[in-house]
Amino acid sequence: MISLEKIIKQHRSPALVHFLEELEKGQEKYFSSKNHGDFDKWQGALQNLRALFPPEKVQSDFDISSDTVRIGNKNNLAKNKEADFIANLKKFMPWRKGPFEIAGVKIDTEWRSDWKWQRLEKQISDLSGRNVLDIGCGNGYHCWRMLGAGARSVLGVEPMLHFVMQFNVLKSYLPFDHIEVLPLRLEDLPPRLNVFDTVFSMGVLYHRRSPIDHLYELKELARPGGEVVLETLVIDGKEGETLVPKGRYAKMRNVWFIPSVLTLEGWLKRCGYKNIHLVDVTATSIEEQKVTEWMEFESLKQFLDPTDLSKTIEGYPAPKRAIFICGY
Ligand SMILES: C[S@@+](CC[C@H](N)C(=O)[O-])C[C@H]1O[C@@H](n2cnc3c(N)ncnc32)[C@H](O)[C@@H]1O
Repeated sequence: MISLEKIIKQHRSPALVHFLEELEKGQEKYFSSKNHGDFDKWQGALQNLRALFPPEKVQSDFDISSDTVRIGNKNNLAKNKEADFIANLKKFMPWRKGPFEIAGVKIDTEWRSDWKWQRLEKQISDLSGRNVLDIGCGNGYHCWRMLGAGARSVLGVEPMLHFVMQFNVLKSYLPFDHIEVLPLRLEDLPPRLNVFDTVFSMGVLYHRRSPIDHLYELKELARPGGEVVLETLVIDGKEGETLVPKGRYAKMRNVWFIPSVLTLEGWLKRCGYKNIHLVDVTATSIEEQKVTEWMEFESLKQFLDPTDLSKTIEGYPAPKRAIFICGY
């Protein structure tokens, strides 16, 4: 399912090349029903999609540089096949990151991931010609946008096979072989590679039990002179203040550290980052993260105090996110 030849050619680091070659050889371990009970369902749905809308029809009719990542148009599907096509796309639910449109079918995802991209796209160094790594990339929505912004290669890293399979739906239609999502955790990558021109970590830091280690790991994945783009939850507060939820935060079990902006800046400095720029702080709205036909579980509105939307259901400050861009 993953094909890394073209990406390997973009990199000269023997450690990374060896790692990717071995991963490609041993990938059945990840892409199998032994690894995930739903794998056969997803694989079958992917084949059905390709039968209903053959990838050859796409040719150059796609767009990875606009808010909606689009493949083909509604004329690619016969009217009597549309319902079947939608049913097969829905076998990959929940669709969290997006939006996408495939053969005229609009996938209204839980998140308006394009809004996050809009907040940072003009602030980061031009991605043209850069080898990019996106840690915790979900279904790869932002990976497509990075490629659309001119990146030479894009590697995403995502441990949830479900999201990797969503990426594979898109990938199987698009004529690019210098983008891939690896079914791995950040910790599975070889340490201290020092190779990527830009490393993104968006929505991951607060899931880490050791945020300082995460910041070091990101820095050591980037090449000297490279860039790290960090997006994470923050609280209002002074330097030194950090929220460590007693239990769940906005119903999420795995949230560990939510620093104030000044605390996070201090962490970045302490880890040796230079040219640290805070480029955005935005409270997440119930329009940005919501229940849709493509993600039917609870979403932000249900995670907030119904009498006071400035608080989570547990009484903590409602989600607010900051974006830092830094070099080293
Ligand atoms: C909140 S989502 C953010 C997705 C995307 N980066 C975005 O900003 O929209 C966090 C993602 O990080 C992934 N993740 C969690 N722990 C990880 C780890 N140790 N290494 C890599 N990814 C991880 C999760 O599976 C999830 O898809």
